[in-house]
Amino acid sequence: MNIDNTRSFRFEDEDEAKTVIIKEILDPSYGCYLWPSSSALAEYIWREKDLFRDKTILELGAGTSLPGFLCALLSPNNHVILTDRSDVPQILENIKRAAELNGIEAAYENNNDDDIEKRVWIRGLKWGEFDERGLFRLLDDVEKLGRHVDWILGSDTFYDPKDFEDLISTVAYILTYHAPPHTKFITSYQERR
Ligand SMILES: C[S@@+](CC[C@H](N)C(=O)[O-])C[C@H]1O[C@@H](n2cnc3c(N)ncnc32)[C@H](O)[C@@H]1O
Repeated sequence: MNIDNTRSFRFEDEDEAKTVIIKEILDPSYGCYLWPSSSALAEYIWREKDLFRDKTILELGAGTSLPGFLCALLSPNNHVILTDRSDVPQILENIKRAAELNGIEAAYENNNDDDIEKRVWIRGLKWGEFDERGLFRLLDDVEKLGRHVDWILGSDTFYDPKDFEDLISTVAYILTYHAPPHTKFITSYQERR
């Protein structure tokens, strides 16, 4: 059985092309697989790519992180923060391995002092948790760089109604207490019957 699947996505037009590599691993966690909403959101970002350059982009529930990696490759001035639930470390470790495959030097949980300088961070962030180790530290670190989140991405994050309030409260906190008025939350979801 194939337990470690690497997939390559090509985004291309007449001016520019990018290839993003993602990794899926055999694991019960939803975040270890790429969901169709992720390709849809990445395709939207590609079509509107000029809106996603020179920006700070926070991906929530990033899983295999296709939209976030595409943003990281779109501009050397992009700061991209890939987050997923802090209590499932294999998702974050999978993102770290995929970052290496994409040639992206990422800071993992920002454990070292110079990690803050790296332009891609991989962080544990559980929706609805407001504490110094998670959301508050993350936003403080972004502000230390003199930056603010411009885009919040969430692909297939609205799939379990019990989590909706936690997700919305995290997004609302960022929009209310951290982000400038132009900041937008963009989400893609899959209708399931
Ligand atoms: C259906 S998967 C989508 C993954 C990826 N965004 C995609 O579209 O391929 C939902 C993602 O949300 C994450 N997630 C679920 N509940 C969460 C929570 N309470 N806090 C943070 N992330 C959560 C999961 O770990 C998973 O990565």
